[in-house]
Amino acid sequence: MENNDIIVKEVSIEEAVKVNRNVIEFDGKDTTKEDFEKRYVGKDNLIIVAYYKNIPIGYIIGYDRDNDGSFYCWMAGVDNNYRRLGALTTLMNYQMNWAKNKGYNKLKIRTRNNRREMLSFLVKNGFNFVSVEQRDDITENRINLEHSLI
Ligand SMILES: CC(C)(COP(=O)(O)OP(=O)(O)OC[C@H]1O[C@@H](n2cnc3c(N)ncnc32)[C@H](O)[C@@H]1OP(=O)(O)O)[C@@H](O)C(=O)NCCC(=O)NCCS
Repeated sequence: MENNDIIVKEVSIEEAVKVNRNVIEFDGKDTTKEDFEKRYVGKDNLIIVAYYKNIPIGYIIGYDRDNDGSFYCWMAGVDNNYRRLGALTTLMNYQMNWAKNKGYNKLKIRTRNNRREMLSFLVKNGFNFVSVEQRDDITENRINLEHSLI
């Protein structure tokens, strides 16, 4: 559910890098802005952060990866001290509205078997499974999903 105490803003990559340090699963202490920029610079992109009572608690980075009318949600993470407050929900709604308004026809996302919170979110919020990429460790299998924006 969306939370009225959470505000989403379009921000610089530096702001998202700061939040990334507090997403324990990403182990992002040493991740630099250049590491992120490699992916999306030169492509249409969206970098957003969710603020709870003015504290930055979550982020999404998306970009036009495939040049096929879809928008790709690349990174999504919420500070583990501020989960289940609706940050991801608010960020994802913002991203979907933004992409739809720009004429994109679907949102794509890639996650893993071991990202159970994300999988729960995606199933609950109407994403469809497209394919699975096998890894030696089944928990690391990559799972591709998408959500229509039309
Ligand atoms: C996945 C993640 C971004 C969710 O962020 P969040 O702000 O806590 O999510 P929300 O509060 O918006 O939750 C929305 C819904 O997702 C599902 N969900 C989220 N966390 C869940 C959990 N621990 N168990 C079950 N369902 C969960 C629920 O359906 C929830 O709705 P509800 O709270 O009304 O039941 C966060 O857990 C995270 O950063 N995880 C580690 C990084 C990661 O896996 N990123 C995704 C990589 S693809």
